[in-house]
Amino acid sequence: MDVLHGLLQRVQVRCEDVASSISFGDEEYERNPICSGPGWELVCICWRPGQTSPVHDHRGSGCGILVLRGTLTETVFETTSDGPMAETGRRDLHQGEICASHDEDIHRIENAGEENLVTLHVYTPPLRDVRLFDAATGAVRPLTYDEVTGRPIYSVTG
Ligand SMILES: [Fe+2]
Repeated sequence: MDVLHGLLQRVQVRCEDVASSISFGDEEYERNPICSGPGWELVCICWRPGQTSPVHDHRGSGCGILVLRGTLTETVFETTSDGPMAETGRRDLHQGEICASHDEDIHRIENAGEENLVTLHVYTPPLRDVRLFDAATGAVRPLTYDEVTGRPIYSVTG
């Protein structure tokens, strides 16, 4: 994770550089794959105010996030033995700031601000299978991201 964090600190990426990958969804945040290579992928995620990710982990992928515009709010959770999950941390990241998550880390990303949020995500290896959590009950269900479109494919058994 230190490597990902360091890489993102060194790259000089601005919103204008990924303009063709900026696309917002009305219903939920939009994942826009930019490019990928052996063992990594770059995704631009666009969030309107109020849009939020599910509580999720990364199942074997490391993730580095650079905020290109707006303010990202990350909430970190831990599972507990009796069901409801414990919220163990919460922080705001502003334009130019970076956070990194390892595969077992469980978090939720949201745009709790009043302006649009644009974030750049580096995953290694590419993020395919994650677990989604219901923070109130601790219930878990699988989710797969489509390799090409980057869109979620919800498990029919989930
Ligand atoms: Fe994540």
